Amino acid sequence: MCGIIGIIGKNEVAPLLIEGLRRLEYRGYDSAGVATLVNGRIDRRRAEGKLVNLDRRVQEQPLSGTIGIGHTRWATHGGPTETNAHPHATRKVAVVHNGIIENYQDLKAELEGHDHLFETETDTEVIVHLVTYYLDRGLGPVEATAEALKRLEGAFSLALIFAGEHDLMIGARRGTPLAVGYGNGNGEMYLASDAFALAPLTNRLTYLEDGDWVVLNQGNVVVRNATGEQVERPIKLSAVSGAMIGKGEHRHFMLKEIYEQPQVIGDTLNAFVQATTGHITLPDLPFDLAAIPRVTVVACGTAFYAGMVAKYWLEQIARVPVELDIASEFRYREAPMPEGGLALFISQSGETLDTLEALRYAKRQKQHILSVINVAESTISRESDAVLSTLAGPEIGVASTKAFTTQLTVLACFAIAVARARGTITREQEAEMSTALREVPARAVDVLNHDERLRQLAHDVSEARDALYLGRGTSYPIALEGALKLKEISYIHAEGYAAGEMKHGPIALIDENVPIIALAPNDVLFEKTASNIMEAAARGGKVLLLSDAKGVERMGSKVTWTVTLPEVHAFVAPILYAIPMQLLAYHTAVIKGTDVDQPRNLAKSVTVE
Ligand code: F6R
Repeated sequence: MCGIIGIIGKNEVAPLLIEGLRRLEYRGYDSAGVATLVNGRIDRRRAEGKLVNLDRRVQEQPLSGTIGIGHTRWATHGGPTETNAHPHATRKVAVVHNGIIENYQDLKAELEGHDHLFETETDTEVIVHLVTYYLDRGLGPVEATAEALKRLEGAFSLALIFAGEHDLMIGARRGTPLAVGYGNGNGEMYLASDAFALAPLTNRLTYLEDGDWVVLNQGNVVVRNATGEQVERPIKLSAVSGAMIGKGEHRHFMLKEIYEQPQVIGDTLNAFVQATTGHITLPDLPFDLAAIPRVTVVACGTAFYAGMVAKYWLEQIARVPVELDIASEFRYREAPMPEGGLALFISQSGETLDTLEALRYAKRQKQHILSVINVAESTISRESDAVLSTLAGPEIGVASTKAFTTQLTVLACFAIAVARARGTITREQEAEMSTALREVPARAVDVLNHDERLRQLAHDVSEARDALYLGRGTSYPIALEGALKLKEISYIHAEGYAAGEMKHGPIALIDENVPIIALAPNDVLFEKTASNIMEAAARGGKVLLLSDAKGVERMGSKVTWTVTLPEVHAFVAPILYAIPMQLLAYHTAVIKGTDVDQPRNLAKSVTVE
């Protein structure tokens, strides 16, 4: 949530800050702002709404200055107004902030007692007043910031600039990410929430550790840890390039990312499939897969649904008990965990705060920590005992697509590896499943060929106020994911249900105005799902059946619409059936005219709880 950037440059920084914010906009987009030093004085431009508004404002009222900070906001405290937009500033200091200052009310009351006047409803404003308080008492910027940091509670990352200090920027990281970027040989220095923001400017980055704070001058960086000790942090080369985060020929990032799936699923698989034998192998893990008494899977949103598919796979194939929960519940539930258990965390961003805190809980419970992560240099990656990477590349569309199918791909490989370690599958079964997995990229291309058919069907869905998604077995989480995709980008109310659960309540909703999207790959549960589809159709429900040729032949005449997907091994069906869910939601949203890549109220990286 919220993206921050800071630049100490040689030339005017405002255009670069706005360009950087454009690449950070996926993190929040309800208001934005930049601040620079103009002749030593802090000057700001801020605007409500999307970044284009800020861009327009800066064109109307240009902002000079060679040092500056910028922010794109996902509101937490205080509505998305211009007044509440960052940077927040006093005459002496300006800040951009991602995260929450939990004790801001106490600090605000204290500072008001010292005649500080607050202008906004935000928690962030307390930071600049607190630093100003210490500056007013004669401390220099570095010392004043150090004192202020000691007083702040919560999870945050910050970038600060100071009036009169053209060559000084301070950053701090507690809980939410912050990276330092090094200019290409001319002393420019950068701070940013992630590598995307800096992609065209530099690929040399230092990722701060939790509790670090950093003092930047041209060509110079001093990092201190939470106890104030000076520390060295390595410089890493980021693989993110500016070109990777363009829309290409596509109208939206989401569509581009949907179409990238054959490629990125293939890339992800290649990391696990041995070229010579075709065997699935995992990197060396610091624990014994055969000895694990239980797997606890924890994640949020779409990643949670990937975990739900994994539960079916791990239980059925590897015969290992699996507990599954959403991170925001798990972290406070005080679940007992068996000694030597494995806790598995799934996250695209690797920064989701609830997932991170759930991981820390599991660590305290002495679990082995394994994560499935897309952003390699993320906090969850760093705090895990081992990481299985999804190679989806940058996912910019807020609605997760390629991250989900690559998560499933990794989890499928993991399930096979656990099953092999536990001796619960035969060599033949393993070979069959590995072959099916290796065919997924090609089958994904076949599924994408149904794009036009799904676009036509989206016209019917777009007229609905509610929609139901049904599936059994591993199709049930895909039904949940399909419903989530539709809700979040088209704003149509949608529910995913286990098909067999319908008659226990939701069947009452069925009439001709509620489209029912039924996922029925031709697996062992097909006949069961078919009965549930008949029950819905018998009550006037209009069913869209997604199945393969055999399923469509068997049920096609009983339903309103069909999409005939390629015939695939039941094991990999959830990976492939996720794709039409994405396309249907995408086209429905486009027809409804919503903002597909930046749906209202959402942000890509959820670093608040
Ligand atoms: C939905 C979506 C979210 C994320 C969730 C977890 O399309 O993207 O539900 O899956 O916020 O995010 P990560 O995977 O970054 O932990």
